[in-house]
Amino acid sequence: MPWEKRFPTVLTAGCDDDTAATLKTLLGARGASVLSEQTAPAALQAFRRRPSDAVLLDLSSPDEDALVVLHTFVREFPATPVILLAHPSAMTQAATGIDLGGWDVVQLPIATPLLLHTALRNAMEKAETLRENRCAEAQFASLKEDAETPRNFGPVELERLANAIATIGKLRDPYTAEHQCRVAQLAEAIGRQVGLTDQELWGLRIASELHDVGKLSIPIEILCKPGKLNSLELDVVRAHPKVGSDLLASLGMPDHITQPVLQHQELLDGSGYPEGLSGSDICRNARLLTVADVVESMGSHRPYRPSKGFDRALGEITRNRGILYDVDAVDACLAVFSVPGHLGPSVARNSSGGCA
Ligand SMILES: [Fe+2]
Repeated sequence: MPWEKRFPTVLTAGCDDDTAATLKTLLGARGASVLSEQTAPAALQAFRRRPSDAVLLDLSSPDEDALVVLHTFVREFPATPVILLAHPSAMTQAATGIDLGGWDVVQLPIATPLLLHTALRNAMEKAETLRENRCAEAQFASLKEDAETPRNFGPVELERLANAIATIGKLRDPYTAEHQCRVAQLAEAIGRQVGLTDQELWGLRIASELHDVGKLSIPIEILCKPGKLNSLELDVVRAHPKVGSDLLASLGMPDHITQPVLQHQELLDGSGYPEGLSGSDICRNARLLTVADVVESMGSHRPYRPSKGFDRALGEITRNRGILYDVDAVDACLAVFSVPGHLGPSVARNSSGGCA
C-alpha cells in the first residue's frame, strides 16, 4: 500500500530547527505525522516509548552519538526504516551509516522534495514486504513444526489444507500463487482431455495448485532475480520440488499429490531434477503437470521477465514432444489451446488467479 495512503508517523532525529521544520512541512503535506527529537539518543528513547513507522536521522551534526545510536537502533528495530540525512560535508558519516544498516541517504538541504518522498515511500514499501515475508515465513515454520505427526485426511480436509497452504503462499509470493492457479486450470483441462477419472483430476488439480509450494523456502531476492542465477542460487531453486513434496507429505498429503509435486521438474529424457527420472518412472500426473507448468510459465509474465508468448510455449512443447515432454500430455495441451475461446486463451488472459 502506498505510504501516502497510510498516513505514517515519522520521527526526525538530530535535525536543527530549520531542517526539522522543513521536514514537518514537506511530509505533513503528504499526510504523515512528524515528531522531532533534537538529538539521536533522545530520539532512540522516544522511539522505545512510542514507535513510529520510519526514522529520519540527521548525521550532519558533529554529535558522534548519531552513529552509535544508529547501530543500536538497527539491532533493536531491524524492520523500521532509518533514512539518513546528511549535508555534502557529512557524506563520509553517511557511508558509514549505510554500512551500519541505514536504509537510504537524502542530501541536505532538501532541494527536491520528490527525492525525500521517494526515499520514504521506497523504504515504507520495503518494510511492508519484509513484514509480509516474516509473517509468511513464521506461518511456514509453524506448518513444518505442526507436521511432526502425519495424519490421514479425507478429501474435504485435504482441500481445506491445500487452500490454507495456497493462501500462505499467496501472502509471501503472489506471482507464484497466481502461476499455480493458472497451471492448475490448464493441467485440469489437459487431464480431462487425456481421460483422467474425476478422482485423478482432483488429485492433479490439488498437486498443481501446490506444485511450487517449496519455493516458500527460496529467499525472495533469488526468486525474483532478473537475469541468470549463479550455481549456488540454482541449487537453492532446484531444491524446491523436494522441499515442497516433503512438506506436503509431512502434513499428511497422500502420494498421489506429493509425487507430482516432487517430479514436476523431471523430463522424459532424464535431464530434469531432482532425481533425473526418465520415461514412465515419472508418474503420469507429474508428466501432465510438467507440460501445463512449462506452457503457463513461458506464456505469462513473471516478475523477473516478460512473457515469451503462448505461441512460443506451444512451439517448445511441440518441438520436444516425446523428447522432454510426454506425448499424450503435449497432444492434449495442443488440443486444449486449439479450441477457440477454450481454456488456452483464458489462461493467457487471466492474471488475477483465484484458486484459494
Ligand atoms: Fe511452476
